[in-house]
Amino acid sequence: MSEQQETKKQRIFSGIQPTGVFTLGNYIGAIRNWGQLQQDYECIYCIVDLHAITVMQKPADLRANTMRCYAMMLACGIDPKQSVAFVQSRNPHHADLSWVLSCSTMFGELNRMTQFKDKSARHADNINAGLFTYPVLMAADILAYNADLVPIGADQKQHLELARNVAIRFNQRYGETFTVPEPYISPAGAKVMSLQDPMKKMSKSDENVNGCVYILDDKDTILRKFRRAVTDSDAEVCYREGKDGINNLMTIYGCVTGKTMDEITAEFAGKGYGDFKTAVGEAVADHLAPVRDEFARLSADKAYLNACIDAGSEQAYRLTRPILSKVYRRVGFIDRK
Ligand code: TRP
Repeated sequence: MSEQQETKKQRIFSGIQPTGVFTLGNYIGAIRNWGQLQQDYECIYCIVDLHAITVMQKPADLRANTMRCYAMMLACGIDPKQSVAFVQSRNPHHADLSWVLSCSTMFGELNRMTQFKDKSARHADNINAGLFTYPVLMAADILAYNADLVPIGADQKQHLELARNVAIRFNQRYGETFTVPEPYISPAGAKVMSLQDPMKKMSKSDENVNGCVYILDDKDTILRKFRRAVTDSDAEVCYREGKDGINNLMTIYGCVTGKTMDEITAEFAGKGYGDFKTAVGEAVADHLAPVRDEFARLSADKAYLNACIDAGSEQAYRLTRPILSKVYRRVGFIDRK
């Protein structure tokens, strides 16, 4: 094996939907880690606007959200020089491959997807075919790049499993073509719960606005949300079963300060929950301040953002072209002469 092959980095692909502002949960659980992976892996990060239209979108909002999401991604530390950062609809190979893969995906497999069942219950007036075939497009996203690893949250595990099965089936039918991707479970990733209902994941769709912190919230808003966070009736800052509210606050505090649970417990020994909640709010606000500043700077420079999207999408296209050609040859389409 040549030295170059030996040192070849594994390839990571992940996608995020262009809906709303990232939450502290998205940030700590996913996006922040995406930035950290850039050193050790070849990273490809995609804003999945094709997936977004499986639910009703106002075109102007989708366009604005896609730009904003891209700017947030860069503000969170994804370097468009180091990684491929692009917009899904700008590389037509995703949709092309999705069709081919849909012919190696069984109806019954898709029909088992729990997210499809949830989403069709929530959008009963718009159960479109795209909602049903959503996981095939996601498989195409990943397989078009022969990604080795896919950082995903628990809610996407079933979709990744499907992508693996489709890759294996295609390879069996047509010969080795795709890398079978593995989930990437981040050692640093932590699950952030709602500040108002710490049994539930922090989510944009939380009915209570105080449950969810957004990465672009200003300092006062962040402090207010943390001051109102639900805790418990004893008064001890320590990580223990049954103390969901405090456990969540400790997790968040640990993630933004780098302190261990023991260090946090020692720091707040003998202090009340009020002090602790203020400290968490301050630490989160301080941590997010540079992200907010960078987001503001990038948002004011649309020309730069557009140039990055153009370049990233072009790079993405170049990466998928040979893989698509191979797929087309494998299935028996006539080669381009
Ligand atoms: N379905 C993912 C989500 O909603 C987003 C996504 C689309 C994705 N394509 C992907 C994630 C490929 C990882 C890899 O979160």
